[in-house]
Amino acid sequence: MNGRYTLTIVKPRAVEKGYTAPILNMIHEGGFRISALKMLRFNRDDAERFYEVHRGRPFYEGLIEFMISGPIVVAILEKEHAVEDFRKLIGNTDPALAEEGTIRKLYAESVRSNAVHGSDSDENAAREASFFFSTAERF
Ligand code: CMP
Repeated sequence: MNGRYTLTIVKPRAVEKGYTAPILNMIHEGGFRISALKMLRFNRDDAERFYEVHRGRPFYEGLIEFMISGPIVVAILEKEHAVEDFRKLIGNTDPALAEEGTIRKLYAESVRSNAVHGSDSDENAAREASFFFSTAERF
């Protein structure tokens, strides 16, 4: 994968706990350029659409409830090999398995409340970026 950008979401519990700025700082220190940024609250329809690929999985309902529970911060992050490098920066989906110094090791509570989302492929990065941002909101 050699896409130029990825999409991240700082999830509700991390926003509530005041971790947005420290997480954005780690993203900056990691060499990513923030090319779009906004704070919003997911409505149920949009959250279900965003996580469509997980529909039917045992954790799906809990994931939706969690993601609509409070505001989120969404950003497009630019860098060479953005998807791959950002996944390294955030660490394992399960914070108990996340490597030392990763965002999830530092700021996540559980698999569900795992502080941040990161796109898992260039194709999904493109889909997720246009899900949240119009071309006029991308710089
Ligand atoms: P995210 O990167 O946002 O993509 C899908 C999310 O589903 C994932 O982060 C986790 O928060 C959540 N998730 C994945 N697997 C599980 C699981 N086994 N139990 C609970 N939540 C999960």
